[in-house]
Amino acid sequence: MYTLDQIRKSFNGSTSRADRSEIGQFLTPVAIAKFMSSMFEAAPRRVRILDPGAGTGVLFAACLETLISKADHPESIEVVAYETDSAVMPYLEETMERCRSLCVSGGIDFHGIIRAEDFVSAATTEINDPLFHIPGVRFTHAILNPPYKKMNSRTAMSKMLYSSGIEVANLYAVFVWLSMLLLEQGGQLVAITPRSFCNGPYFRKFRTTFMRMMSLKRIHLFESRKKAFGDDNVLQENVIYHAGRESQKPESILISSSGGLDFDKARLLAVPYSRVIHPRDRDMFVHLDANETEVCASERMECLGSSLGDLGLSVSTGRVVDFRAREHLRQTPQPGTVPLIYPCHFSDGFIKRSVEAGRKPNAIRLTAETSTLFVESGFYVLTKRFSSKEQRRRVMAAVFDPARFDASFVGFENHLNYYHEGGRCLQADLAKGLALYLNSTMVDRYFRLFSGHTQVNAADLRKMPYPTREQILRLGRAVDDAMPDQETIDVIMEKECPNHGK
Ligand SMILES: C[S@@+](CC[C@H](N)C(=O)[O-])C[C@H]1O[C@@H](n2cnc3c(N)ncnc32)[C@H](O)[C@@H]1O
Repeated sequence: MYTLDQIRKSFNGSTSRADRSEIGQFLTPVAIAKFMSSMFEAAPRRVRILDPGAGTGVLFAACLETLISKADHPESIEVVAYETDSAVMPYLEETMERCRSLCVSGGIDFHGIIRAEDFVSAATTEINDPLFHIPGVRFTHAILNPPYKKMNSRTAMSKMLYSSGIEVANLYAVFVWLSMLLLEQGGQLVAITPRSFCNGPYFRKFRTTFMRMMSLKRIHLFESRKKAFGDDNVLQENVIYHAGRESQKPESILISSSGGLDFDKARLLAVPYSRVIHPRDRDMFVHLDANETEVCASERMECLGSSLGDLGLSVSTGRVVDFRAREHLRQTPQPGTVPLIYPCHFSDGFIKRSVEAGRKPNAIRLTAETSTLFVESGFYVLTKRFSSKEQRRRVMAAVFDPARFDASFVGFENHLNYYHEGGRCLQADLAKGLALYLNSTMVDRYFRLFSGHTQVNAADLRKMPYPTREQILRLGRAVDDAMPDQETIDVIMEKECPNHGK
């Protein structure tokens, strides 16, 4: 009998990485599959396991092996595995056979079903079928590493899902959503997926439905995005989570993290449920505090007194989409143009006049057609929307100081967000203080907690807590015409917002 690792390696050896990558077929390493299986809590006597997008079947097999290794193992186990790739089918059958013989030798009833069909259509049909409500047809366990693919809202599949109330941005969330619907009350789910669902507007509907229907009990984070899948080049940051289909929420959520597959060295922290999912947050962001320092950062931030709305400020995305205004772009400022600001104009916390050698234009013509894209010149705070993983901080802020530009208007390019006061500029000290705050390590730590990706969306910035207006103005007085270095910023912040930010 082949081991699960041999089956996985044999399939990976028979296909190219490029082909697997094309269909998002990143097979779970056995060590992760076992770790995931260890998260399930006590099982009933009769177990039904769902594995949608089963690949070689490593997940259901690891789950089954964990269940049958227990002294009080189940009497019967049924496995339903969905898979559409015909190339992986012989390997999946091999794994199913392995499960059958393990159960037979352990005196456990076994029933294994491979459904070589699209899980999404099959599951949607099933949940709309009246027979679905008969007890016994739903699953006690769902274990999944679903395919990842952006959803196009115009496809027939998206429309079908929409009519069942399922609205998501990525196929992985569809798989998790349908799996939780297929669970019986008290059933459990363990999934490994990208971390993107934890925040942001695209996954709001999924997140809020999941959090209402399920009780999230455990989350595991990987400190390195490459180490989890090792031999496959998975670029997303993945998380593993365990949740039960029950409305009662736990007191705390267990958050763990490991460098890669060294789960025995995982750091564990029980974080109050209300700190991971804030009770008054209608967007239900998932705040992932992986260690004490971060918990501390999160607590300190939440003690800050103001929301952006309280400050009377707004943050918007730059209105100039350069490829749509190509004919108006100019490399250098000329009569009849206004400054055009890109991320490459950030320099030491301020916006510099122009980047001569850069590839980006420094100016844009002011015409009747383009005038709606600009704001009146004045103090603004800009942040980059996209950061690289290697970048020192996720949030990079810079002050637009009008004295450095001889212009009445300015254009902010679409890769930037800008803070303003009802569409108008900010008071100088307010802009400088706000940029200092946004460039602090405290904000960076806080941001990393709930943002798995490197994007800094305006929606994320809107939700952050801020110091009071008086505090920001005082912070601003510490900034002349250059942003202090990181250490000084953090010392200034510490003085202004000691311990609990009061
Ligand atoms: C990320 S891989 C994971 C495979 C396996 N669960 C594991 O953990 O090793 C996702 C699998 O889903 C399959 N798949 C993709 N779309 C599917 C669909 N609509 N229905 C069923 N399976 C699908 C792919 O062929 C692939 O084998």
